[in-house]
Amino acid sequence: MVTAASSRSVPLKDQRETPAQSHWQVSSFQRKTIQKGKLMDFTSTVIIPLLFGSLGIFGLFRLLQWMRMRTYLQEAVVVITGATSGLGKECAKAFHAAGCKLVLCGRDGEKLKDVVQELSTMTNHRKNTHKPHTVVFDLSDTKTVLNAAEEILKYLGHVDILINNAGISFRGTVVDTGLDVDKKVMETNYFGPIALTKALLPSMIKRRQGHIVAISSVQGKISIPFRSAYAASKHATQAFFDCLRAEVEQYDIDVTVISPGYIQTNLSLNAVTADGSRYGVMDKNTAEGQTPAEVAQVVLSAVGQKKKEVLVAGLTPSLAVYLRNLFPSIFFTLMATRAKKERKAKDS
Ligand SMILES: NC(=O)c1ccc[n+]([C@@H]2O[C@H](COP(=O)([O-])OP(=O)(O)OC[C@H]3O[C@@H](n4cnc5c(N)ncnc54)[C@H](OP(=O)(O)O)[C@@H]3O)[C@@H](O)[C@H]2O)c1
Repeated sequence: MVTAASSRSVPLKDQRETPAQSHWQVSSFQRKTIQKGKLMDFTSTVIIPLLFGSLGIFGLFRLLQWMRMRTYLQEAVVVITGATSGLGKECAKAFHAAGCKLVLCGRDGEKLKDVVQELSTMTNHRKNTHKPHTVVFDLSDTKTVLNAAEEILKYLGHVDILINNAGISFRGTVVDTGLDVDKKVMETNYFGPIALTKALLPSMIKRRQGHIVAISSVQGKISIPFRSAYAASKHATQAFFDCLRAEVEQYDIDVTVISPGYIQTNLSLNAVTADGSRYGVMDKNTAEGQTPAEVAQVVLSAVGQKKKEVLVAGLTPSLAVYLRNLFPSIFFTLMATRAKKERKAKDS
């Protein structure tokens, strides 16, 4: 029978070492200690200084970028269309706080006055802020757009940054939608902004200075069912401003296209339907989107850094853009399935 004591004594006996083994174990321990020491030396003399150096360079780079952006935006004359609500209103707040001289545009003079009043209550102790100027016009009426451009140039002499933000969305099937509705969406989202851009461009070219921003959409890169007029207007926007960017680079004029995903604004409520009436529904995706204040900060920093284009979207819309370009047939199948599902949900 093996007792507890005898079973314990066996490993003790087995563990007895010869002097050679003991010598080997000591030198192995020493070797490990030396290796550890070398690693610590390497860490303290190479990795840590490299890490802190990189962090320092990165910090310095960000500081320079921030200072450049601050100088660029301070006192800049910035025109924002669709400043009465949503993203435009938040851009007004962000650019006002950055010290820009704003020209706020919209269809409703009273709403614009309210925005100016709201901005006047914002304080920025570190920067000079300026009382914005307002211009009332309807982007779907080219004549009023041209008059507005003239008024802006007359009042402020020049425009440094034009933010083409105003827009309307659309909900409906292609087959049921009257051409007048397609035209209305195109007038507001495409012809209006390009008319304003063309009217202000010669003065920018003359000064060899200016920055034109287009608030497009993820739907300027992919088309989803029941949004035909909207997606078409945003695709046209993307194409127009991409062409413009290439053409005006020689005059030192920058063009930035911003493509947001969903933003928590009244866009879906204000969307037009197939018969031209107001949609009046807050879509789930819109309600769950990014806040307009967050997107306005992205716009501010994209302009400050003179980025050429920015996609401001979550994982799913961003993946959809890549899918459309890399595997179009999978994207088309997914969109067809989505169309069937949405139609079924509407009919049920
Ligand atoms: N919300 C989103 O999910 C989303 C996503 C991607 C891109 N975007 C884009 O973001 C931009 C801003 O939209 P939002 O989301 O902030 O929607 P919003 O709250 O409905 O604001 C739209 C703005 O455009 C103005 N506007 C509409 N039609 C106009 C016209 N004919 N003439 C002049 N101004 C007009 C509106 O002025 P009134 O007050 O006079 O109506 C309002 O100030 C749009 O270009 C939109 O396509 C939005």
